[in-house]
Amino acid sequence: MWALTKAFGIWPCLFIAFAASVSAVCECGFSVAVDPVGDSSFSVFTELFETDFLHSTNLADAHWLRQQYSVNSSDSRGPYGKNFTTSDVVTNPLKDPYSWAGDSIHGGDAGLQLWAREPINSMIPAAEISANRTDILYGSFRVGMKMSKVNGTCGAFFWFRNDSQEIDMEFLSSEFHLPSNPNTGAVNLVVQTPASLQAGYDASGTPDFVESNLTFSPDTAFHEYRFDWSPGRVAFYADSYCLHIMNVSIPNSPGDLVLNHWSNGDPKWSGGPPAADTAVTVSYVKAYFNSTDPAKQADYRKRCPTYNVKKTCAVPEQRDPPDPAGPNGNETAKTYFFSLDHPPATSGCRAHGMGVAFAVLVVVLSTVRAVRLLRWVCGIAW
Ligand SMILES: *[C@@H]1O[C@H](CO)[C@@H](O)[C@H](O)[C@H]1NC(C)=O
Ligand SMILES: *[C@@H]1O[C@H](CO)[C@@H](O)[C@H](O)[C@H]1NC(C)=O
Ligand SMILES: *[C@@H]1O[C@H](CO)[C@@H](O)[C@H](O)[C@H]1NC(C)=O
Ligand SMILES: *[C@@H]1O[C@H](CO)[C@@H](O)[C@H](O)[C@H]1NC(C)=O
Ligand SMILES: *[C@@H]1O[C@H](CO)[C@@H](O)[C@H](O)[C@H]1NC(C)=O
Ligand SMILES: *[C@@H]1O[C@H](CO)[C@@H](O)[C@H](O)[C@H]1NC(C)=O
Ligand SMILES: *[C@@H]1O[C@H](CO)[C@@H](O)[C@H](O)[C@H]1NC(C)=O
Ligand SMILES: *[C@@H]1O[C@H](CO)[C@@H](O)[C@H](O)[C@H]1NC(C)=O
Ligand SMILES: *[C@@H]1O[C@H](CO)[C@@H](O)[C@H](O)[C@H]1NC(C)=O
Repeated sequence: MWALTKAFGIWPCLFIAFAASVSAVCECGFSVAVDPVGDSSFSVFTELFETDFLHSTNLADAHWLRQQYSVNSSDSRGPYGKNFTTSDVVTNPLKDPYSWAGDSIHGGDAGLQLWAREPINSMIPAAEISANRTDILYGSFRVGMKMSKVNGTCGAFFWFRNDSQEIDMEFLSSEFHLPSNPNTGAVNLVVQTPASLQAGYDASGTPDFVESNLTFSPDTAFHEYRFDWSPGRVAFYADSYCLHIMNVSIPNSPGDLVLNHWSNGDPKWSGGPPAADTAVTVSYVKAYFNSTDPAKQADYRKRCPTYNVKKTCAVPEQRDPPDPAGPNGNETAKTYFFSLDHPPATSGCRAHGMGVAFAVLVVVLSTVRAVRLLRWVCGIAW
């Protein structure tokens, strides 16, 4: 780059500065490939909701609500009740706000902790947060998360409307490190439907339940879990690898996004109670979705009066586990946030292999980094 500046004078610097200053804000929305390894068709979503829990301390600012409610044992359909408690939702960001790995403020893995604890009387303390909105209809929903090591809890990332419309990724710690498969685990992919409700909240006999075996155990590192929901279809992913696609009785009404960690001692599901207090740790949530809120829809029409694919931004695929604990953790855990990185407008119509090129473009052109790059290339101090 220095040689470039020498050879071409200040012009490359001015060009980079210009490119940075015109960077737009994805006026026509966010595009997600329908099939990451297949054809080039993509879904477009208008709304963005991203939270970086490696650096956040204030949940309310990020529009998350800590839940406080309890369900007795008969209503929870297990030997124990569940006591969702606000104090069991604990933020634990990194000490260094400029790093993506390293020591956390309270020790242990950095991120948002959702605690499930040993029972008190016949209630098991548990944790839940929900996004402060109920207008979410279709989208791509992603979470960076490391699950509980203690047998007997259920950690879940889900979209919820009501007992017959729910899309769920549920992790049972009793299914991690089984003697038959010591280094692996599983995730239960569930769409609650009128049929599962009729079967007593049991989706297991319906096409909308799959126990998907993973090639890793979810309690040993952070991975990205994701579901992409469009009319009549839900595709579930781990680290951008498609685990399963469901297409029967798919929800079609708006709802909310929720994360929780709990146990009711039910030997057929959560197992437990846990023999020790244990946390699920969440490093981020990223949601790109459509809204049924008329004000949000009007805002989109104003931003994007005529749909133009060049004014959509392709959402990058997260293929590497976003784990801060690896040898290169500061790089691998640094994932892309539109809300933090201000990307340029770009075409959403791109094939699988373009994801990397796009990420590079974004890194080069994003305003903050471009300024740093300019300082470095041109030796300009400001
Ligand atoms: C989301 O909303 C946009 C704008 O109305 C629309 O073009 C797009 O088809 C919607 N996406 C889905 C998956 O329904
Ligand atoms: C939740 O949404 C309501 C209504 O939009 C708003 O009044 C309230 O301040 C929000 N709370 C948080 C924590 O964002
Ligand atoms: C459990 O709570 C429900 C109301 O939430 C109540 O109707 C029911 O009687 C309670 N059951 C027991 C055993 O306390
Ligand atoms: C739930 O936990 C809170 C906080 O520890 C406690 O004050 C409350 O009594 C518990 N509720 C039940 C029903 O056990
Ligand atoms: C991580 O990388 C950032 C730059 O992205 C740097 O500022 C920070 O010092 C690095 N932290 C560690 C622990 O290496
Ligand atoms: C869930 O919401 C859908 C759409 O509004 C509605 O048709 C259905 O009856 C609701 N189910 C329950 C159990 O309330
Ligand atoms: C968890 O505990 C249950 C019940 O004791 C047992 O069946 C299961 O194998 C245990 N899971 C692991 C991974 O040890
Ligand atoms: C997943 O693993 C379990 C336990 O190791 C095994 O019983 C089951 O058959 C596997 N499922 C699939 C779909 O491979
Ligand atoms: C629905 O999913 C099933 C199982 O994954 C698949 O065999 C079938 O072709 C799908 N149907 C449609 C219409 O996509």
